[in-house]
Amino acid sequence: MNKILQFVFIIGIVVTFVATNPIETSEEWLAADKEWWQTAVFYQIYPRSFQDSDGDGNGDLNGIRERLPHLKDIGVTSAWLSPIYKSPQVDGGYDISDFKDIDPMFGTLEDFDKLVAEAKKLDIKIVLDFVPNHSSDKHEWFEKSIKRIEPYTSFYVWADAKIVNGTRQPPNNWNSGMSHSNAWQWNSERGQYYYHQFTVQQPDLNYRSPKLVQEMKDILVFWMKKGVSGFRVDAIGPLFEDEQFRDEPLTNDPNCPIETDDCYNYHIYTQNLPETFDMVVQWRDLLKEYAAKTDNVSRVIMVETYEGPPLVMKFYGNSTHEGACFPFNFQFIVNLTSESNAQEYKALIDKWMDNLPEGRIPNWVLGNHDQHRVGSRLGPERTDALNMLTMTLPGVGVTYNGEEIGQEDGFVSWKDTQDPNAINAGEDRYLQFTRDPERTPLQWDTTKNAGFSTANKTWLPVSEKYKQTNVKAQVSENVDSHCNVYKTLIQLRKKTTLQKGDLTTEIVGKNVLIVIRELKDNPSYISVLNLGGKTETVDLSKIEIDSDVKNLKVEVASVGAKNKKGSKILRGKLELSPNEAYVLSTDL
Ligand code: NOJ
Ligand code: MG
Repeated sequence: MNKILQFVFIIGIVVTFVATNPIETSEEWLAADKEWWQTAVFYQIYPRSFQDSDGDGNGDLNGIRERLPHLKDIGVTSAWLSPIYKSPQVDGGYDISDFKDIDPMFGTLEDFDKLVAEAKKLDIKIVLDFVPNHSSDKHEWFEKSIKRIEPYTSFYVWADAKIVNGTRQPPNNWNSGMSHSNAWQWNSERGQYYYHQFTVQQPDLNYRSPKLVQEMKDILVFWMKKGVSGFRVDAIGPLFEDEQFRDEPLTNDPNCPIETDDCYNYHIYTQNLPETFDMVVQWRDLLKEYAAKTDNVSRVIMVETYEGPPLVMKFYGNSTHEGACFPFNFQFIVNLTSESNAQEYKALIDKWMDNLPEGRIPNWVLGNHDQHRVGSRLGPERTDALNMLTMTLPGVGVTYNGEEIGQEDGFVSWKDTQDPNAINAGEDRYLQFTRDPERTPLQWDTTKNAGFSTANKTWLPVSEKYKQTNVKAQVSENVDSHCNVYKTLIQLRKKTTLQKGDLTTEIVGKNVLIVIRELKDNPSYISVLNLGGKTETVDLSKIEIDSDVKNLKVEVASVGAKNKKGSKILRGKLELSPNEAYVLSTDL
C-alpha cells in the first residue's frame, strides 16, 4: 500500500471507531469537551403551580415567563416543564388530547413562543415533557380508533374479551396501579377492551403501529422547530406490551394483598420489553439528525424510569447505539428515608457509578412532582447537605422547583384532592397515594397566596409554611439561606474539576459522607456532609487527597454553619453539628 493510501486507511479506521464508539475510555471522556447537557442542572417547573399570571388560580406560561428572572438569578440554565399540552387534566396534564397544542389553562402557542424567546434571551434552555405511552381518551385518534377509522384502528392496544362461563372478562390479569383496577376497560361501541397502564382516561398507544410511531416522531420535530432543547420522556417502561397478552406471574407478596395494586404482579409482559430500548435509540437518532440539519447543538433526551442498576443502564443504549442521554437516577428517592445513614448514601452512589456504562453521564435526582418533597422525605434540616451532594457529584443535577428554598410538602385534604392516584384509591387510603402535597404552589413571598396567584381559591391550597419558607426571604445577597447555598453551588459547578474530575466517596463513622472530586493540575473539591442528628468530628488529615495540602477553603457552608464561606480552615479535626455540611477546596 502506498503511503497516502495507508494514511487514508488509518484515518478511515479512526473515524469509524470514533463514530461508532463516541467515547470509549474514561481518559477520553475526561479530555472531551462536554456537551451542554452533560453538566447541566435541569430545573423542573410544575407549570400549574409555578406562577399564575391571570388570576384564575392556575399557573400558566406567561407566569413562567414572568418568573424567568428567578431562574437566571439562581443560575439555572435549563428548565424542563411538566406537560402544558391540551388536556382534560384528569392526570395533571399527562392525559393529552392534542400533542401539538397548548392547554387554554396554560395559554396559547404564541405564549409558548414568547416564553422560549424570552428564555433564549436569558440563556435558558427549555425542555418539554414528551408523553409517548398514552393519550387522553378525548384525543381524536382515540375517538377514531373506537370507530375503526384508518389508520387509527390500531393506534391503541385493543383486545377481545375472554368469555368465562358465558360472561365477559378482561383479556388477562394486567393491572393498573394508578386506577387501582384491572388495566383493561371495555368499550361497547368498538366491542373490545382497551389497555390503560394509568387512568381509564389514558389509553395506551400502540407502538406496534408504524403510523403511530411516525406520528410521535413528528411531534418531537414539531416542538424542536419551536425551539425546545430536548425532552423528558414520561413513563418509558410501559411503552410496549406483550403481543400475545399473556397473564403476568403473581408476586405472592404478603405485603401486597390487593389484586389491583401495582405490586401484585411481576410486570414481565407490560414493562421494559426489549422493543422499548430500540425506540429510545430511534428517538435519540432523530434528535441527532435534527441537530445536524440545523444548528449542531445537541438536544437532550432523559427518560423516566424507576428501575435501578443494572437494568436501568439499558436505557443508555449500548456501545454501538446511543439511547437516552440518561435515564433518571431515582435511587435517592426510592431507597432513602430520613433514617438512612451515610453508608446507605455512599452505597447508592457507588452502585450507580459502578454500573454506569463507559463514557455515559450520571445524574442525580432528589425529587419530582410524583414524590413527596425531599425536605418532607429526608428531613428539611438536610436541605443544604443534599443540594451540595447532587451538585458536587459528577454529571447532571436535577432540581424540582422549590428545592432551592427547601420548600416542604403542603397539606391537601381529601376534599381538595386533585390527584387521580389518590381519588381512585378512595378516602381511606388517599394519603398513601396522593401526589398533591408536593404539587402545592411555589412559595414566592409573604403576600396573598405566597405571591403565586391573586385568585381567591388556587387549584391546590398554598401551604401554610410560606410565611417562613419563601423565595423573597432567601434571595437577597447577605442572608444565610438555602437559596444562597444553592446559588453558590450552581456557580461552583462551573469549575473544571467538578465538570470533569474523578470521584471518590468515603464515610466517617456512620453519618458523615465525603465526596471528593479531583483532577490533575486543578484544585480538589471535597463535600463533607453530616447526614445524622448528632455532632460528629472528622479528621480532614485522613481524607484521601494530596498529603501536602495543609489548609482548605470553605467554598460553600450550610445555613448556620460554624465556618463561613470564603474562610480558611486547617486540615485537621473538623467538628460538624447535626446536618452541618461544607464544600471545601484546595483552591487557596
Ligand atoms: C409519570 C408522570 O410523572 C406522572 O405524573 C404521571 O401520572 C404518569 N407518568 C402517567 O403519565
Ligand atoms: Mg404502553
